[in-house]
Amino acid sequence: MTRIIGILSGKGGVGKTTLTGNLAVELAKLGKEVYAIDCNISTSHLGMYFGFYDYNVTLNDVLRGDNEIEDAIYEHKSGVKIVPGSLSPHDLGGIDIALLKKNIKKLVGKADYILLDSAPGLAREAMGTLISSDEVLFITKPTLPSIIDMLRLKEMAKWFNLKPVGLVINMFNKDYKMTVNDVKKAVDIPVLAVVPYDKDVIKSFKLSIPLVLMNPKSKAAKEFKLLAKFIDKGKSEPKSSALKRLLNFFKF
Ligand SMILES: Nc1ncnc2c1ncn2[C@@H]1O[C@H](COP(=O)(O)OP(=O)(O)OP(=O)(O)O)[C@@H](O)[C@H]1O
Ligand SMILES: [Mg+2]
Repeated sequence: MTRIIGILSGKGGVGKTTLTGNLAVELAKLGKEVYAIDCNISTSHLGMYFGFYDYNVTLNDVLRGDNEIEDAIYEHKSGVKIVPGSLSPHDLGGIDIALLKKNIKKLVGKADYILLDSAPGLAREAMGTLISSDEVLFITKPTLPSIIDMLRLKEMAKWFNLKPVGLVINMFNKDYKMTVNDVKKAVDIPVLAVVPYDKDVIKSFKLSIPLVLMNPKSKAAKEFKLLAKFIDKGKSEPKSSALKRLLNFFKF
């Protein structure tokens, strides 16, 4: 069975691409067939994170109806199959985001996992990713604005009847005012991983080598590894409205 997991956040720059890339590699290490698709077509970085810069065909061409998704697949040495977005700012014309879901469905049956690296927020690109997913993995920084926007997204996911896989708290650092417990109290999603702020993540982007390959012993890499194992085994679902919980938290 193919699991289509959207990786989404309310705010930008919180680590969706980092999470998608490292989770993809860790799932591939578990022997899974993994596709990672850069659905953040206006500001794509996923291909770059895997060291791919030069493409004949990208997801942009597919969403213009000019190519099949099979033409835009590039295999990384880890075994992960990447579908990159275009790096050109002049390549956004004529794109129909509604074609995303249709094209992703063509990969069902070929993969164990299809991970969708989303654009942030609730705009057109992110909504296209959301409706193309069966399950959603949320990611946030441990800050209130980031959590509140993530919860808005979670409500949208609920309207679309998507299964929440859980939440990743990224870039955790002891200087943040919110503790992991504060975040747990504020949301109604199982927290599956707390990834520390780690300079090696930035280095891994610079070198275009996913962290779990560049430095598998780093604390952040270990979290990605545990997360992959957890996701591959199964997960629980939230029980009540996250926004209600958040409001109660503030009253409290
Ligand atoms: N745990 C971490 N520790 C330190 N830096 C991190 C960590 N996670 C991500 N970063 C850095 O933060 C920046 C943003 O990460 P990333 O591109 O994964 O976020 P994103 O949510 O995909 O952004 P966008 O919304 O623009 O797509 C990158 O420079 C990345 O190296
Ligand atoms: Mg990104």
